[in-house]
Amino acid sequence: MKILLLGAGGREHALAWKLRQSPRLKALYALPGNPGMAAQAELLAGDPAQPETVLAAAARLRPDLVVIGPETPLAAGVSDALRARGYAVFGPSRAAAQLESSKAFAKRFLDRHHIPTARYAVAEDLAAAEAALAQFSYPVVLKADGLAAGKGVVIAESAGIARETLAGFFSGALVGRAGARVVLEEFLAGAELSLLALCNGREARLLPPARDHKRLLEGDRGPNTGGMGAVSHDALLPSSLRARIEHEIIAPTLAGMRAEQSPFQGILYCGLMLTAEGPKVLEFNVRFGDPETQALMPRAEGDLAEAFLATAQGDSLGSLSLAWSPEPSACVVLAAAGYPGPLGASEPVTGLETAETIPGITVFCAGVARDAAGWRTAGGRVLALACRAPRLQDALARCYQAAEVVQFNGKQYRRDIGASLV
Ligand code: AMP
Ligand code: GLY
Repeated sequence: MKILLLGAGGREHALAWKLRQSPRLKALYALPGNPGMAAQAELLAGDPAQPETVLAAAARLRPDLVVIGPETPLAAGVSDALRARGYAVFGPSRAAAQLESSKAFAKRFLDRHHIPTARYAVAEDLAAAEAALAQFSYPVVLKADGLAAGKGVVIAESAGIARETLAGFFSGALVGRAGARVVLEEFLAGAELSLLALCNGREARLLPPARDHKRLLEGDRGPNTGGMGAVSHDALLPSSLRARIEHEIIAPTLAGMRAEQSPFQGILYCGLMLTAEGPKVLEFNVRFGDPETQALMPRAEGDLAEAFLATAQGDSLGSLSLAWSPEPSACVVLAAAGYPGPLGASEPVTGLETAETIPGITVFCAGVARDAAGWRTAGGRVLALACRAPRLQDALARCYQAAEVVQFNGKQYRRDIGASLV
């Protein structure tokens, strides 16, 4: 099987690493990938969110399957353009990707199908949004409707902060056009869970539960980031709760998308809050999570390429060889100085090869470059150190041992990833 993988992040490196283990894989291309992925894939230059660029690469390579990692190509209709030309594509249509690309679409969809979520209002302008604030108490959650690379959600503690945030969204100052429509939402208290499911339009197969750590600083303080680390541990999800989420959230979402002529195919990522009243949807993503994927892939057993192809073709998911180790796993992200704000200059990175000699450690690269002198930082989240072990504390200990071995100026990472679970 020849596979073209779109994307350049740590998530894509983790997918490439697992796809590479498939006995059916003949060739793996990454567009654009990152230099850390060169061991797994042939790297191709280009913007994966430009349908013409991807179509040209596909016409040249004739892949048996295109796997779309990030949300931007999905929202740009890359999957539809490929499917129209007969390619098998792992990833939803642009219409189905609205579950992520428009928070107002997702909330209205959840409402129509009676799927549990926070009470909300949608506002199309600043005056309407300010008026809608009266329906909520504080803190209130304010969300830009469109894709905002993790910067579109603000939890406003007071009316003053809420008004300031709304003004920033509608003026375009905060997240550009993504803030032209805003969702206001009731604040939900509870533990968060990322639950991902492989979906072929009709059926879903759940992946093991994962938890992201979105804030920059220990103790869940500081600004939101793309994610500073993740754990995957079955203890995050008791089986009664799992059944409830399948029954109350995932099944009705798939049925609803089908009924609305947008069957969902690919990865449905349910960002959930486990509230006192039960699990509720915080958000949907329509692709693998980053960095959840870096924690999940070390638990994957069986053939990921086969699973993606079967999903893309709409085959039944019942007979897939894909299984998950019962052992927990973790990943710790090393970020560059300044992240998630403006970054400093590129810095040399050392210790990658030594880190991989620690038993069980895999390095998944994201914002890295490579030149004759070696590795350099080239982005905010530089890399993730991932490990699976019989006990979560051992997986975490090895990740932190590796985090000391990898060196670059300005390195930042959280020392409390998974701490609440051990
Ligand atoms: P989202 O991108 O919608 O998942 O939001 C980013 C983060 O904001 C989530 O991971 C939660 O930590 C937080 N969040 C979003 N919606 C709510 C809510 N209704 N109540 C409490 N926290 C929320
Ligand atoms: N880890 C959160 C995300 O991928 O959106």
